[in-house]
Amino acid sequence: MTKTLLLLPGDGIGPEVIGEVRRVAAALWPALTLEEAAFGGAAIDAEGAPVSDATVARAKAADAVLMGAVGGPQWAGVARAIRPEAGLLRLRQEMAVFANLRLALCFPALADASPLKREIVEGLDIVIVRELTGGVYFGQPRGIAALGGGKRRAVDTQVYDTDEIVRVARVAFELARKRRNLVHSAEKSNVMETGVLWREEVTKLHAADYADVRLEHILADNCAMQLVKAPKQFDVILTDNLFGDLLSDEAAMATGSIGLLPSAALGAEGAPGLYEPVHGSAPDIAGRGVANPLAAILSFAMALRLSLGRADLADRLEAAVTAALDAGARTPDIGGTLGTRAMGDAVLAALG
Ligand code: IPM
Ligand code: MG
Repeated sequence: MTKTLLLLPGDGIGPEVIGEVRRVAAALWPALTLEEAAFGGAAIDAEGAPVSDATVARAKAADAVLMGAVGGPQWAGVARAIRPEAGLLRLRQEMAVFANLRLALCFPALADASPLKREIVEGLDIVIVRELTGGVYFGQPRGIAALGGGKRRAVDTQVYDTDEIVRVARVAFELARKRRNLVHSAEKSNVMETGVLWREEVTKLHAADYADVRLEHILADNCAMQLVKAPKQFDVILTDNLFGDLLSDEAAMATGSIGLLPSAALGAEGAPGLYEPVHGSAPDIAGRGVANPLAAILSFAMALRLSLGRADLADRLEAAVTAALDAGARTPDIGGTLGTRAMGDAVLAALG
């Protein structure tokens, strides 16, 4: 059966890195149907909104969606409702991809690229499971209100229902079983009601269905501290939308490999996943052909494995990336001089 991957190159370095995914996909799986749509700032310019209804419909109908990056200084002045980030949030919600798997691994060849000492990060391999469609990102009420006399009030609402906690916790426990069998659940139950509910629900689910997995509860601020102090103590970190946003950036930076880290956002069984490199749009280097395409290529590998039913091709592609790195292929972000296309060539050569 033929499968469809919708590419959303987006902004900044997005189009450049997705361009390399196109070449790799054509070599690895010529029968895969690649579609493309405008997204983020590029879609604001072309279609008047960061994600059109048509693009949302195509995303839901595809087998997987691979995004490059969104945002940039060009769109700093657009109305809030149509800013590039709003497009991403809408797509996440419409696709109902509630579980965001963000990898933080330290590639052996890059241990010295980390701002942390080599011995702290060498061999690091963490997955952050971030709740992606709830919490303070979407909670109501929200807004900024005038109180009179020039005073104003801003409200964001952190809200979680039990089923939202349980379904994402299930993803974390299942994943841990395939890894090192350890889940750290991070919240602020010492301060927040959502943290209390989060801890209670995770504890209940663990006792009912996952007692074989080691579960540790950790306060999110302590988790942030431990991620720089001793990150290798972690296997799977389960956390909410906002803490996951912060902790995943911290963990990614710690690896020294942010240009290489892929992510997947998954919904219900069989629904299309949304894949994207962890790095952002990097406007400072956009359009210069120097961005590292490996995070996008490895995100494609995750899509092959988790949404497109081709774990065999994912294995081949991941092995090719490792081989290219072992052979010394390096873009500037990891201490080399190769451009985006030359790095794509290195992966293609390793694919054979
Ligand atoms: C991320 C980004 C997004 C988020 C922005 C671009 C909306 O920071 O994917 O981590 O906050 O979720
Ligand atoms: Mg973020």
